[in-house]
Amino acid sequence: MRHLDAMLAQFDAYTASLRNEGPSSLYEPIQYAMSTGGKRVRGLLTLYGGELFGASLHDLYKPAYGIELLHNFTLVHDDIMDNAELRRGKPAVFIKYGIDSGILVGDNMSMMALQWSRGNLDPSHQAAIINCMVDTSIEICQGQQMDMDFEERDLVLESEYLQMITWKTAVLLGAALKVGATVAQASPEDIERIYRFGELIGIAFQLQDDYLDSFGDESFGKRIGGDILNTKKTILLIKSLESALSEEDRNYLLGKNEVTEEERIARVQQIMTDCGAKEYLKTLMLDYHRQALEQLDAISAKNSTQDLVHIADMITQRTT
Ligand code: IPE
Ligand code: IPE
Ligand code: MG
Ligand code: MG
Ligand code: MG
Repeated sequence: MRHLDAMLAQFDAYTASLRNEGPSSLYEPIQYAMSTGGKRVRGLLTLYGGELFGASLHDLYKPAYGIELLHNFTLVHDDIMDNAELRRGKPAVFIKYGIDSGILVGDNMSMMALQWSRGNLDPSHQAAIINCMVDTSIEICQGQQMDMDFEERDLVLESEYLQMITWKTAVLLGAALKVGATVAQASPEDIERIYRFGELIGIAFQLQDDYLDSFGDESFGKRIGGDILNTKKTILLIKSLESALSEEDRNYLLGKNEVTEEERIARVQQIMTDCGAKEYLKTLMLDYHRQALEQLDAISAKNSTQDLVHIADMITQRTT
């Protein structure tokens, strides 16, 4: 635990020293997005993924910052798409600075992410990292589009949901580790395994996010019930719709009746609990966690995987 806190503190000290030249109206919202207290899980994965195969922290900070920029860019645009006003307990970027700002700030962050991800590598080694960032960004967009499309559909299969969360969330955790391992010039087999570890733990990450969105407390920092109000096809909703339900309950789940937001959230939470959807999510999440750790066991790394095991555990136990 101490090692993780120390790593985070060092990373934060590094990023706090960074300055950008250019309009402050562009960079102030970026600074806001980057410093409102995210967990920095993905940045840490780059640092630990790189250290595992022998890279120095000095060479990992810039790519790790690039990964965090990419993540935070997706959040800035995601909050516009989800009409989510609260992020990390504070106003979302588009609420504080306006939609126009949110769009451009996100665009700029996505390109800054590419710049930073190159790190200290010489040009001949940069291509693998840039390719990974680009492929990942495209997959995130694909996942985000599926997520939006599913809002309009009453029937979504579990397999479609898993594809959607793999793209919108899990591939970035895989990429974070892959970027670190690439800086370390790990073997192609190990890079593939560490990527797969990240992807599997990323699926567990999004399952827990979906759980907390409906059943978390205020410390989660986002509006509890936001997914319910947007009729997001989370596994909770998919499983609830699969169970034998009254017409009235279906209407609550699908947002097809005239009730207040608070009434809808309370009733849907009750249905999700009663029909076993909540339990189903937890079992599924733990299964992905187990599969992830199996990948880690197969890695032939120089250093201990203990910190990555610790992050994997945190991901499934987190409340924020
Ligand atoms: C939120 O990610 C977006 C999802 C993929 C669910 P985090 O929960 O890691 O966000 P921060 O950066 O810690 O706020
Ligand atoms: C997370 O989706 C995926 C991305 C942001 C790319 P969510 O919409 O569930 O994320 P939160 O819950 O708003 O953080
Ligand atoms: Mg969202
Ligand atoms: Mg979303
Ligand atoms: Mg969410």
